[in-house]
Amino acid sequence: MQTFLITGGLGFIGCNFILKCRRENWANIINIDKLTYASNLKNLSELDNDTGYNFVYGDIANLELLLHLLKEYQVDAVINFAAESHVDRSIFSPQDFIETNVLGTFQLLEASRDYWKKLSPQKQEQFRFLHISTDEVYGSLATTDPAFREDTPYAPNSPYAASKAASDHFVRAYYHTYGLPTLTTNCSNNYGPRQFPEKLIPLITLNALDGQPLPVYGDGKNVRDWLYVEDHCEAIYLVLQNSQVGETYNIGGNNEQTNLTVVEQICSILDELIPKPNFRYSSLITFVEDRPGHDQRYAIDCGKIKRDLGWQPKENFESGLLKTIQWYLSNKSWVEKIQSKDYQTWIQQNYKGRKKANLR
Ligand code: NAD
Ligand code: TYD
Repeated sequence: MQTFLITGGLGFIGCNFILKCRRENWANIINIDKLTYASNLKNLSELDNDTGYNFVYGDIANLELLLHLLKEYQVDAVINFAAESHVDRSIFSPQDFIETNVLGTFQLLEASRDYWKKLSPQKQEQFRFLHISTDEVYGSLATTDPAFREDTPYAPNSPYAASKAASDHFVRAYYHTYGLPTLTTNCSNNYGPRQFPEKLIPLITLNALDGQPLPVYGDGKNVRDWLYVEDHCEAIYLVLQNSQVGETYNIGGNNEQTNLTVVEQICSILDELIPKPNFRYSSLITFVEDRPGHDQRYAIDCGKIKRDLGWQPKENFESGLLKTIQWYLSNKSWVEKIQSKDYQTWIQQNYKGRKKANLR
């Protein structure tokens, strides 16, 4: 069986990918994670007795550690999920994003290049470095613009998007300059179980359950394309196994929604699942001051991955959202642990000073 070195595997997408790898017997896993606020050891507690899974506490910027792990475990593929991933936090503290997303990815590339150079020709041929990136590197679309394609020029607008764009460029450069067998995927907004509740869908779900205001930035008309995390994980594995080196693939959910519609759908599901007399969850919706530089619309053209690899998303938004909300309802101890003092500090920082939106 192959061995994957996964970075950031205790975060949202990484942990879902690792669980799938182990369930489907895709690979043995070494997971290196720095245990930032976004990570959660509970995300993978069901693998505690799995001998095919190893966790290593560490930073992707630690070159020595990476070199040691690659060699020790004779890694077949590196999959880089590790990142600072929240746009709002990148507005408050951009430096963390440069340290992990840019410098961390650079060190991971350096370690992989050093390890890969010393492999046998056959192993060199098989080795892969897969970098997980975002559609946000392409910037913002107007309502009638065509969706992002792999050849859409990069135009990142937030410090988060700029740091991911920089890392994508380094990955590309390592393929072109050194021949390192890299792959890059740029996906849209993921949703599903185990997402940290700073992101829209879990934040709104948990606030609604707590009877707290549901903060919608600006007029709520910004559009995102929502991709169910399981679909994303399948696409990643397919790209890793079947695509040509040096390729990039856009991965999306074919599911564009305004933020307000997403929030309203969460409210309707909760009205069904946990009805309260004379109360609608949508009464908690509060329009608040917009995010600075807020991208208007993201949309992904998944034509290339469909043509080359036969992938398309399977989940529809209605059932995916229901499954997601049900997961949060059934995992109260996970939720309680997440809603720690650090989390409360973030909520204060991001929402307390925000004025109500001035809607025309
Ligand atoms: P996340 O924030 O939930 O998790 C990130 C994980 O990386 C955490 O476990 C954290 O501890 C770890 N980490 C952070 N810095 C690290 C470092 N220096 N060394 C080792 N580990 C470190 O993120 P996510 O939502 O799972 O996103 C995974 C990847 O997918 C990221 O690269 C992100 O940019 C990309 N992405 C995410 C989305 C989305 O909707 N969540 C959309 C597009 C792209
Ligand atoms: P988010 O989940 O942070 O993902 P991203 O910024 O990477 O797209 O936000 C999704 C959308 O929801 C985005 O347009 C910002 C908006 N949003 C709100 O309206 N209110 C909120 O409290 C949050 C966190 C996001």
